[in-house]
Amino acid sequence: MPRPFILICLSILPTLSPAFDFENGEEINEVCAGCHGEYGQGGKEGEYPRLAGMPSAFLAKQLHLFRDRIRPNLAMVEYVDDRQMPDQDIEDISKFLEQIKLKTKLPPVDETAPGFNAYQRLLESKRLMQIPRAPGDLEKGQKIYRKECASCHGRDGMGDKEKAVPMLAGQYTNYLWRQVKKYREKIRIHDEDAPEEELLSDFSDDELTDIFAYLSILDD
Ligand code: HEC
Ligand code: HEC
Repeated sequence: MPRPFILICLSILPTLSPAFDFENGEEINEVCAGCHGEYGQGGKEGEYPRLAGMPSAFLAKQLHLFRDRIRPNLAMVEYVDDRQMPDQDIEDISKFLEQIKLKTKLPPVDETAPGFNAYQRLLESKRLMQIPRAPGDLEKGQKIYRKECASCHGRDGMGDKEKAVPMLAGQYTNYLWRQVKKYREKIRIHDEDAPEEELLSDFSDDELTDIFAYLSILDD
């Protein structure tokens, strides 16, 4: 067999056989679901953030920060000590959550059609999540977002898997605001390459309001 062919086979191998235990991830998620929802959709208008579809490297990093008591999280403290959350579990739950896809709307159906399955429809509706339109100037928000945030969080707000950057589109606006405060107070570190300069302190609340308004419509 010619060598390039073997090399190609080797390079696609990791994507074909993910090094994570799906069932273990699913089992751990039963604990998380109590707060973050069965499908990682979060709840209570952002008291519990959405986790579904987030880059797994970002989720894993946050779980390590919680476990090492670097990022405070009273609600989660008992679920993430060393005994409860060995590294492999962090890997498995993060990969499990990353692959959950939430829909923003249900396709229209004819409920009177003979094949209509009400139970199936109910199950599908549980995987729905759409961020309500937040107040603010969409045009200004789009401009600032594209100039100042998109290079890391992605043009469509979906984050960056390689660089462990979270998605901001599809996340509760309340939750984003709470994190802005944490970054400004240096309770969380936004950019590890520049821990002293908090980027979000350079923006006024009005500017962030506009950015979050723009983000809130990206999942429409
Ligand atoms: C008792 C409720 C509770 C349970 C159970 C719980 N969490 Fe959380 N989690 C929270 C709260 C509250 C926050 C938000 C903390 C904050 O505002 O900084 C959070 C935040 C997070 C974040 C940060 C997300 C982000 O975008 O910044 C991750 C990741 C996370 N949880 C993962 C998990 C996983 C995985 C489990 C299951 C092992 C779990 N949580 C179980 C309450 C809970
Ligand atoms: C240099 C890259 C970079 C830029 C530019 C950037 N971010 Fe981030 N952002 C990150 C990273 C990395 C994280 C995760 C950091 C951590 O571990 O807490 C993050 C996290 C966040 C979070 C927390 C989300 C969550 O789920 O916990 C918010 C909110 C946020 N960024 C808003 C913004 C906004 C608004 C802008 C533009 C004004 C912006 N960021 C620009 C890299 C960046």
